[in-house]
Amino acid sequence: WVMQDMTFVLFGATGDLAQRKLFPALYNLYLDNKLPDTISIVGLGRRNYTDGVFQEKIEKSLHTYSRKAVQSATLQEFLEKFRYCIFDATETEAYQQLDELIEKRENELGIPQNRLFYLSVAPGLIDGIASNLHATGVSKSSGWNRLIVEKPFGRDLETARTLNHNLGKVFKEEEIYRIDHYLGKPMVQNLKTLVMANPVLGSLLNHHQISNVQITASETVGIEDRAGYYDKAGAIRDMVQNHLLQLVMMTAVHLPDNLMVNTSRVNKTEIIESLQPIVKEQAHQNIIRGQYESGEIQDSPAAGYREEEGVADLSKNDTYVAARIAIDHPSWRGIPFYIRTGKRMNEKSTQIVIEFENRAMDSEMLKGAAPNLVMVEISPNESISLRVNLKDAASNQFKPVWTNLSTNSEDQPEAYELLLYDALRGNSTFFANWREVELSWEWIQPVLEAFQEDLLPLHFYPAGSKGPRAANELLMADGYKWW
Ligand code: BG6
Repeated sequence: WVMQDMTFVLFGATGDLAQRKLFPALYNLYLDNKLPDTISIVGLGRRNYTDGVFQEKIEKSLHTYSRKAVQSATLQEFLEKFRYCIFDATETEAYQQLDELIEKRENELGIPQNRLFYLSVAPGLIDGIASNLHATGVSKSSGWNRLIVEKPFGRDLETARTLNHNLGKVFKEEEIYRIDHYLGKPMVQNLKTLVMANPVLGSLLNHHQISNVQITASETVGIEDRAGYYDKAGAIRDMVQNHLLQLVMMTAVHLPDNLMVNTSRVNKTEIIESLQPIVKEQAHQNIIRGQYESGEIQDSPAAGYREEEGVADLSKNDTYVAARIAIDHPSWRGIPFYIRTGKRMNEKSTQIVIEFENRAMDSEMLKGAAPNLVMVEISPNESISLRVNLKDAASNQFKPVWTNLSTNSEDQPEAYELLLYDALRGNSTFFANWREVELSWEWIQPVLEAFQEDLLPLHFYPAGSKGPRAANELLMADGYKWW
């Protein structure tokens, strides 16, 4: 992958994602010397900013959100790369002005017409922007063109297909980078090499020994000021369709060392293709839908979802989803995957837990012994833990003990840094391809319909808790519990 001089065009440059994630990511890449030698960055938004005001906003975002401390000696050099363009995505002239600005900067800086378009905009605008970029020639330059699209990619199977069809008319599949920032988390990116570098781990992780896999992404935050989006999306679209199903695919593909079919490695598409479909009428057997009520998080009172500003009084929207997933693939048949995600839970944690079989556990001699577990912690910390049974001499009983292995290095790059760096170099390994996205929506679609038609109950859980009790029953029915 080669880094070439280019123009980075950011649609939605005055938005929240830009301030919190994208400017800091670009800045940290700059500090690490991972930007192209010469890069022109053009921010687009509806607000009436001058270049100076725009650069001030960027500086402010760096002071608030950058991982690395802002270095005053070189800050100006970084900010100098940015220009601002007032932009109304629905006006054709706006694209012509944009083209002129991009070209002017390309000439000033003497860089080729390599253009990367980052769409961090309302989902309804993606289609129109992409086709206008094409129609007005902005994305038909003499260099390469790439399009990064933020989620949500559609709001159901049909809209995702339409969006993809329309994007496909103006960008080639290999030019489209569908970003899922969970694929940028360092631990997720390292799953493959982790097992390769540790054959001991690899030899444990095979289907004769694993009893089930549990993936959790819990958050303490609520919906912040995103009610307009969230009350229509719910956890199922916001987290499950993309982040959690990607974690299922990454875990199923990379964790077992022996996942080979005819000597070639199984890929993520094969896994998502193998998910046993959910039948709408039976969704309640495999899916738990929850919503938070008022409660307490870390000793502070927290309002219930229906009391949040902008949420409908009797909203039935899901802020929590748990699911049992069966993977009909030779390596995973008979090993359930359980996933869960929720807002306003007791802790912020993203983790994968692998539980092992232990058929001898019922014997008197092994009293107190619990299943062995491997836990891969993805955030907020990164670590691998192993739970083993050690005998306590005083009580003569086994006690489960955790060993926690981590590098203790705090200075890990953020997901957006890793993903932007890849996109700048044209490496799409950690971006979702269309087939994965389509199959994820296919699996989710009956669940969306079951929610829509109210075919499964909405379970309430207090803010600050571990989610609805019904989610525990989902595992208990199979003889397991959440770890
Ligand atoms: C985003 C969702 O994609 O991921 C948010 O839209 C969620 O609702 C966020 O809070 C969680 O990301 P992370 O990296 O904090 O786990």
